[in-house]
Amino acid sequence: MDRRQYSASSQRNREPIAEVLLSRLPPIGTILEVASGSGEHAVHFAPLLPQYCWQTTNYEEDQIESVIDWIAHSPSPNLRMPLRLDTTESYWPVETGGYADMPITGIFNANMIHISPFEVCEGLLAGAGRILTAGGRLFIYGPFKVGGTQTAPTNETFDQWLKSRNPAYAIRDQEVVIDLASENGLAHLEAIPMPANNFLQIFEKQ
Ligand SMILES: C[S@@+](CC[C@H](N)C(=O)[O-])C[C@H]1O[C@@H](n2cnc3c(N)ncnc32)[C@H](O)[C@@H]1O
Repeated sequence: MDRRQYSASSQRNREPIAEVLLSRLPPIGTILEVASGSGEHAVHFAPLLPQYCWQTTNYEEDQIESVIDWIAHSPSPNLRMPLRLDTTESYWPVETGGYADMPITGIFNANMIHISPFEVCEGLLAGAGRILTAGGRLFIYGPFKVGGTQTAPTNETFDQWLKSRNPAYAIRDQEVVIDLASENGLAHLEAIPMPANNFLQIFEKQ
């Protein structure tokens, strides 16, 4: 049985995201992907980043299975099988060790903080603050409001759709996420505009 899932958006955004990761990741280490989703990002990025170890994770069981099957279908020696990770937990499975040779110098997270309650974003920033080594970087990809307003009419429509699905979901304010990151020892480096009115927000552990 093939349990691979498919995400049209990750097929579309993987090239522009890879370009940024290749130029902005710290030189070496493990990249922890929080919410690997289908697993398509992981199998695309890992072979492009052979000097890093790519640790996949997921919150939902069916998505863990999808990542396992994507890795089986498109193996790469630097890809690690998914761990179950809930950002809201105060202790993440990667904190038990196992990364002494390849410390976690990067965390990548795409399209999660608007499609989940705000606690999930708070948990992501708290975890990144605990886990990243000094100089390590957190990359958050997705749509953001800037200065309290949506950056495109399509994002306004998307935000209304998110809230109709769950009132706790919403496109987040860039400034709110930056302030929260700062409280967790993560300095904001860049907000890189990406296709389809998204951003890649980059933070560095102090
Ligand atoms: C729209 S999907 C994005 C998946 C993938 N990163 C991508 O770009 O295709 C949102 C993801 O957020 C995850 N998620 C929701 N709540 C979470 C939590 N508390 N901890 C970790 N991941 C969570 C979901 O399981 C899902 O994989």
